[in-house]
Amino acid sequence: MSAAHVIVGASLAGAKAAETLREEGFDGQIVLIGEEDERPYERPSLSKDYLLGKAERETIYVHPQAWYADHGVDLRLGTLVTGVDPLAHEVTLADGSRIGYGKLLLATGSAPRRLPLSGADAEGVLYLRRVADSDRIRATLQTATRIVVIGAGWIGLETAAAARSAGVEVTVLEAAELPLLRVLGREVAKSFAGLHREHGVDLRFGVQVAEITESGGQADGVRLADGSHIPADAVVVGIGITPNSQLAEAARLEVGNGIVVDAGLRSSDPDIYAAGDVANSYHPMLGRHIRVEHWANALNQPQAAARAMLGQDVAYDRVPYFYTDQYDLGMEYAGYVEPGGYDRVVFRGDLEGREFIAFWLRGDRVLAGMNVNIWDVNEVIQAIVRGGRTVDASRLADPGVPLDEFA
Ligand SMILES: Cc1cc2nc3c(=O)[nH]c(=O)nc-3n(C[C@H](O)[C@H](O)[C@H](O)COP(=O)(O)OP(=O)(O)OC[C@H]3O[C@@H](n4cnc5c(N)ncnc54)[C@H](O)[C@@H]3O)c2cc1C
Ligand SMILES: NC(=O)c1ccc[n+]([C@@H]2O[C@H](COP(=O)([O-])OP(=O)(O)OC[C@H]3O[C@@H](n4cnc5c(N)ncnc54)[C@H](O)[C@@H]3O)[C@@H](O)[C@H]2O)c1
Repeated sequence: MSAAHVIVGASLAGAKAAETLREEGFDGQIVLIGEEDERPYERPSLSKDYLLGKAERETIYVHPQAWYADHGVDLRLGTLVTGVDPLAHEVTLADGSRIGYGKLLLATGSAPRRLPLSGADAEGVLYLRRVADSDRIRATLQTATRIVVIGAGWIGLETAAAARSAGVEVTVLEAAELPLLRVLGREVAKSFAGLHREHGVDLRFGVQVAEITESGGQADGVRLADGSHIPADAVVVGIGITPNSQLAEAARLEVGNGIVVDAGLRSSDPDIYAAGDVANSYHPMLGRHIRVEHWANALNQPQAAARAMLGQDVAYDRVPYFYTDQYDLGMEYAGYVEPGGYDRVVFRGDLEGREFIAFWLRGDRVLAGMNVNIWDVNEVIQAIVRGGRTVDASRLADPGVPLDEFA
């Protein structure tokens, strides 16, 4: 028997790592430790079909309950890991007990940023990360008449769409000039603003939230820095996340915008790895470190980390990918563009009708592409991004020219 491999964080990344360790023939003990009481589940549905009551609870889980025992995975739920001792090769649990490891994977994910404002602790100020949060927001949408959403990022927009579908009036307050601006840039962000306005969302940009107002401990609205007040039955906050890198920091691993790992997902300690939202990994294709806060990364990266933990030579270099569903808009995005890191956006298809592909270019090279309500093209978009060839922008914009030509 080999030494135990321990995984901290029993969510998508942790569960996929455990699965891969077994698939790759690891026959030692696997301990998968999670602070939440739920067995590992996937979060995307929590702001979409599950939130809308269209998907059953059972659909969110990564594996059936029996899978863990069947595969000899020692799943410890409701268990907080409070420390990592790299020298002793042990993790410490909240009850003071210790578990030894041969290799350790930190898949601790991320946590919502909290609003540091007066009133932010009132009843009815809601965040969306865990399944219980989604249950709470769903219950709220069934009784509320109007809500305020703070932040026009992914959580804010998907929640706004769900709320509109439930017939609730929605005001979205965003500090930036447009929704999703840092990720998508102005040209495409405008399209998302239009989508939400068409569905009756009151979008307000460039605003500064001053306080959450309350009566009797219950949030009843939001006051802006200009003194105006927006009444609401509840306030949903989606203002970004911070990576859960505290354990790594305390263990003196290299940390900076998450746990810094190499292309093989190995941290500054050779027996400790990281994957998922918490990992700031070196990406060979991009030639830099990136931290990706999306589902596909939490699905695929831990599989690479698990193989690396077993001594295989691994370089995780998948093209970053994410998707969203809002109202009748579905999209997939592949690639990576730093805020402002592109020269122009080339559109192919019907931007007004929201059936298009957008390509972000620097010079004549495609950095990223996004297909909106057009399907079965994302693989070729990934190939175009990966290929890094120079492209003729006018041909790229022409739907008559096969995309394969640019890959
Ligand atoms: C509502 C919602 C909708 C989303 N929708 C999409 C989408 O449509 N498309 C997309 O690409 N991405 C989406 N995402 C992002 C995606 O879900 C995340 O990127 C993914 O969950 C990251 O997985 P992870 O396993 O790395 O971390 P997490 O899911 O954050 O899980 C980490 C786990 O580790 C546990 N943990 C942390 N510290 C400790 C500790 N010290 N001891 C024990 N356990 C610990 C946490 O409790 C948590 O359960 C969505 C996210 C949310 C919240
Ligand atoms: N479809 C998807 O990929 C998807 C869906 C849901 C959640 N997620 C993930 O969940 C995490 C959380 O999502 P999120 O939407 O909270 O983060 P985000 O980073 O996507 O967006 C946060 C938004 O809040 C704004 N903001 C920040 N502080 C503010 C303030 N004080 N007042 C007003 N606006 C403010 C930012 O400008 C930004 O637009 C992210 O990691 C995200 O990638 C992804």
